[in-house]
Amino acid sequence: MCGIVGYIGSETAAPIIVDGLRKLEYRGYDSAGVAIHDGGKIEVVRAMGKLRALDEALTHKPLEGTVGIGHTRWATHGRPSEENAHPHVAGGVAVVHNGIIENHTTLRHELQQKGVTFSSDTDTEIVAHLIAHALEDGAKTLIEATRTALQRVEGAYALAVLWDEHPDKIVAARHGSPLVVGFGEEAMLCGSDIPAVLSHTRDMIFLEDGDLAELSPGKCSIQTLKGNPVERPKKRIDWSPVMAEKGGYKHFMLKEIHEQPDAIAQTVLARVDLEHGDVFGEEIGLTPELATGCRRVYIVACGTSHHAGQIGRYWIEELAKVPCFIELGSETANRDTVFFEDDLLIAVSQSGETFDTIGAVKKAKAAGAKILAISNVMDSAIPRMSHGSLYTRAGPEIGVASTKCFTAQLAALLLVAVYLGRRRDTLTAEHAGEILQALTEVPAQMNELLDDRDYVRSVAMQMTHATDVLFLGRGYSFPIALEGALKLKEISYIHAEGYAAGEMKHGPIALIDEGLPVVILCPKDDSYDKTLGNLNEVRARDGQVIAIATKGDEAMHDVAHHILWMPEAHPLTLPMLTVVPLQLLSYYVASKKGLDVDQPRNLAKTVTVE
Ligand code: M6R
Repeated sequence: MCGIVGYIGSETAAPIIVDGLRKLEYRGYDSAGVAIHDGGKIEVVRAMGKLRALDEALTHKPLEGTVGIGHTRWATHGRPSEENAHPHVAGGVAVVHNGIIENHTTLRHELQQKGVTFSSDTDTEIVAHLIAHALEDGAKTLIEATRTALQRVEGAYALAVLWDEHPDKIVAARHGSPLVVGFGEEAMLCGSDIPAVLSHTRDMIFLEDGDLAELSPGKCSIQTLKGNPVERPKKRIDWSPVMAEKGGYKHFMLKEIHEQPDAIAQTVLARVDLEHGDVFGEEIGLTPELATGCRRVYIVACGTSHHAGQIGRYWIEELAKVPCFIELGSETANRDTVFFEDDLLIAVSQSGETFDTIGAVKKAKAAGAKILAISNVMDSAIPRMSHGSLYTRAGPEIGVASTKCFTAQLAALLLVAVYLGRRRDTLTAEHAGEILQALTEVPAQMNELLDDRDYVRSVAMQMTHATDVLFLGRGYSFPIALEGALKLKEISYIHAEGYAAGEMKHGPIALIDEGLPVVILCPKDDSYDKTLGNLNEVRARDGQVIAIATKGDEAMHDVAHHILWMPEAHPLTLPMLTVVPLQLLSYYVASKKGLDVDQPRNLAKTVTVE
């Protein structure tokens, strides 16, 4: 996830900006850069890789000046490289940007027709050109030109802008990506996250969507996209630097659970056509030929990504009516798996570096199968080996237990299933439109669920002494039961089993007694009646029932000891929601037990060994 820092004051800006960027390192990045106004002109220094590379570049080309902007880039448009690193400059205007410009293709084409040549593959450079054009066309100030440019832009952004002609101003703007303005001593700062400015001030304004701020030493004025002045309240932040890195949360895992609405929104952004009920193939790494030319789909993954793949399989078979198989990376790599040239293999891996999944990809590729990678890390090993890549835009996940990458993988897999269904003529535009509309509603529904976290915590407090927990679910809820069990065991070290509810009678029912907590996923979907039957069987054997149920399902009060409520949602998007209380449940159990939630024993974030 990219980071922004801006400084305008009386001290040399470059070290302050690089220090601010360092405070954002936890977000992950692949390149960095700064633009400094030395009073006469803007100078830019950029470098691939870590901030020490930028430090080194700055020792070769020291930048003087007390005004500047800086950026750490996590590649989305265009591969990680020095040319694609920010700031981008056009006509004396330097821009750093977080977010995604949805209509970048149209704008790029339009600018090219006006004779503009681009020096990067980024969507950000387009903004620099648009602002420069607005200034050429008569805009009097940088803020006016930025406003004119942003009126053309669709998508999400946080921006900081410098202009040659205005050595005493920075313009900052926000729409969909966070941006704070900090009040220093005789100085103003801006940053994409609180830690970026916290060493210089605790007094901040949080810009709102559609705000543009003009910063000069000791002064900040804010206006809307229409040019109307607005006031935003100044807040005092009392966080310690460590708390700031975690966004005020106790652990990265809890922060990342709360980042899921944004991770889903970003993963879907600019990839769906709601009006025509479709998904843009080029945005998800697929072509119509790949979609119609495959005779079967094969998904490979490990751990949590494998659970996402299991749900992906159900979606693909339901919507695209193509046989879809799911297998663990390690099993695929180590047995005589049979692949065909007309197979489409989808490799799901948050890190893109998992050894076992790579092994499976190699095997399928050698047999001539086409490979689609779903990964959160641009240019990681699996995308590099694949014919197409679909990046989840969850931002870096620091907690070893995967949460936001899981739900972002689900959003990505649903996009793939809809695309396959549309190209293979098994899904009407109307039905696809309904599903995609439901997908865009998930972030708000997730926020509703997250608001109920205190109740989930109270239930968790009663589970901390459990030695075993059973998770049950049917249909789309079965892989979520597996995921709930994995989350609990990996961070709380409580033995947990996920089972298909229909399999309970084939064995696990023998475990049930008054000492066993049983988490049952029983939302109102096609499997409801059957799962309710299983729930009653658990209850009849004195099991402790914790039900995940849909709001308004009054019958649950008679059968469950605890109920974690779901908002009503489309049956296909339900798994993205039902997993949230399970993530919270395991988090609160582990946190109460005082365990190292973000780095559980024996586990690594990226498993690059067999
Ligand atoms: O990076 P990947 O998605 O390929 O990682 C796969 C698993 O190692 C990973 O999901 C693991 O199971 C996590 N600890 C789950 O929280």
